[in-house]
Amino acid sequence: MDDRNGWGRDRPVPAGSPHQPPESFVEQANVTDEAIDEKFEENWPECWERAAGSLSWDEPFDTVLEDGDAPLYRWFAGGKLNASFNCVDRHLEADRKTHAAIRWEGKHGERETYTYRDLYVAVNELAAALRELDVEEDDVVTIYLPMIPELPIAMLACARIGAPHNVVFAGLSADALAARMDAADSEFLITCDGYYRRGDAFNQKGKADNARLSLEADVRTVVVDHLGADLPHVLGDDEYDYHDLREEFAGRTVDPVPRDAEDMLFLMYTSGTTGEPKGVVHTTGGYLAHVAWTSHAVLDVKPEDTYWCAADIGWITGHSYIVYGPLALGTTTVMYEGTPDYPDRDRLWEIVDRNAVDVFYTAPTAIRAFMKWGEQYPASHDLSSLRLLGTVGEPISPRPWNWYRERVGGGCPVVDTWWQTETGAMMLSTLPGIDEMKPGAAGPALPGIEARVVDETGADVAAGEAGYLTITRPWPGMARTLYDGDDRYRAEYWEPFSDPETGDWRYFSGDTASIDEDGYVTVLGRVDDVITVSGRRLSTMEIESAITDVAGVAESAVVGRSSDREGTEIYAYVSTEGGFEPTDDIRDAIVDSVGGAIGPVATPHEIVFTPELPKTRSGKIMRRLLEDIVNGEELEDTSALRNPEIVGEIQTGREE
Ligand code: WTA
Repeated sequence: MDDRNGWGRDRPVPAGSPHQPPESFVEQANVTDEAIDEKFEENWPECWERAAGSLSWDEPFDTVLEDGDAPLYRWFAGGKLNASFNCVDRHLEADRKTHAAIRWEGKHGERETYTYRDLYVAVNELAAALRELDVEEDDVVTIYLPMIPELPIAMLACARIGAPHNVVFAGLSADALAARMDAADSEFLITCDGYYRRGDAFNQKGKADNARLSLEADVRTVVVDHLGADLPHVLGDDEYDYHDLREEFAGRTVDPVPRDAEDMLFLMYTSGTTGEPKGVVHTTGGYLAHVAWTSHAVLDVKPEDTYWCAADIGWITGHSYIVYGPLALGTTTVMYEGTPDYPDRDRLWEIVDRNAVDVFYTAPTAIRAFMKWGEQYPASHDLSSLRLLGTVGEPISPRPWNWYRERVGGGCPVVDTWWQTETGAMMLSTLPGIDEMKPGAAGPALPGIEARVVDETGADVAAGEAGYLTITRPWPGMARTLYDGDDRYRAEYWEPFSDPETGDWRYFSGDTASIDEDGYVTVLGRVDDVITVSGRRLSTMEIESAITDVAGVAESAVVGRSSDREGTEIYAYVSTEGGFEPTDDIRDAIVDSVGGAIGPVATPHEIVFTPELPKTRSGKIMRRLLEDIVNGEELEDTSALRNPEIVGEIQTGREE
């Protein structure tokens, strides 16, 4: 086959053997109607009424979709609703109020349960306090909290009074916080004294103080006293203690403010490994409908379930699938403050076992770590409560996918869900009660969503060939714009593949992918992770997938080293599973695997073994940093990494 689109690919992405959902799962699945795709298709966009219909509206919407000002779409216009009412109040009826809403697991074994009634009380009291502090409707409130119950409480309290929240991941620096508050015009902050990091009390308030010093506006600040005597702090001007406020407003209730479906629910700055962070704007009706629907249809969540998404609420996954989706459905959502390896590497399985978790959702980076640590950890607990597993955030190759399904799930279905901060909710995935699962492929576009993989000209690529992943129709959870303006929103996401003349609007995801005959999409990586070697464009993630398919390999990151003489050479950084020494045999197996999957053109020039790969706090491998190292560039600030110490090791390794 010729190489028409210059991607250097002439064969389909190798996928593992497919799996059918087990009968026992199908029998109880939320969605089993095999004609659901056609039904959504025939009735688009009204099909989305089904998602909106699961919510409680104060006023019904007039239209499902308004596209007159595309790509600035409006969903469920005219409708009014409140997200906090939908996630809390409406579950208080009958016997549901004593049902657990949040089960919190602290770092050192502390535990707290908030029933829906407890959550209602906490959200109302904080909402009343925020009002008293002059937070008005549409004021942006920044929340800078670790994974403690006060984080979702604060989000819901903001939602209750119609104040958009702007959650900044607790591990980000003072500068990052200040930049986000400044960009979001935010004059209110909710933070805490500190939290435990690797056993030590870490001073979060110190970071918040530094951020406030660099901001021009006076920032009213609520401080949660999380560590008590372990980290004494004093409150300054404009600072209020969370627990004192709760006491002062004890028993107070605040009527949920009816928000227009198109009013902003929150802002989320994407972590972006380069460039200015983008303030992604999400609105109330469409977002909530989309996250509730996908929690029901893809994650199969039921009100009586105990559901656990082991992400951080500081990123979009936690917003959509720890807080809004599960709580809109009235289920029990587990929140975990700690890390998977403390006090031991079976920590997550101990939590699954003790809470009898039904559905578990995590990221491939975690799954690869579990695999590296060994199957004895999940095997030492009773995980038979698990009915469904999910993954999100990065491509997952067949080997870790199968390991996860077998060693953690005992053969239960696995949904690989593709979506983004900008899409708000899931876009590509199998429906676990209906679809065949193909390890290595995220899946087809969900009902009501249309995805196309296209070449530079926007023409569909042939099955198995790589191209750009685009979405050809609007969807309810979509970002409405970027906070700093519609222009950047249009330019980054819509202009690359749209034709405004003909009204053909297409969203560009920034990802490359391939699609098979059945419409299953395998995401290959970001466009910025493509390297060109000998005139052929290769996806670094595709090479990485071939490398991680080698027994004994835990993780890999592939980057390009460019020189005038050699052109671009491929450097592969590889970490091995516990018990596997980095040997020449593994090196040879890597070369064979890459050669077999892609071709000799993709053979790494250098394979560098390292105990760990540098990662962002959200767990994404920092390829750009490795790229800078191999190219001898000056390194960017590495303090935002999860494991900054590894950079020194990798650099020293290179100098030797
Ligand atoms: C990647 C996280 C492959 C992709 C929800 C996307 C994935 C970016 C998958 C968004 C998946 C997410 N398979 N790649 N299942 N899910 N990605 O904004 O490159 O933090 O563009 O949202 O993660 O990351 P974000």
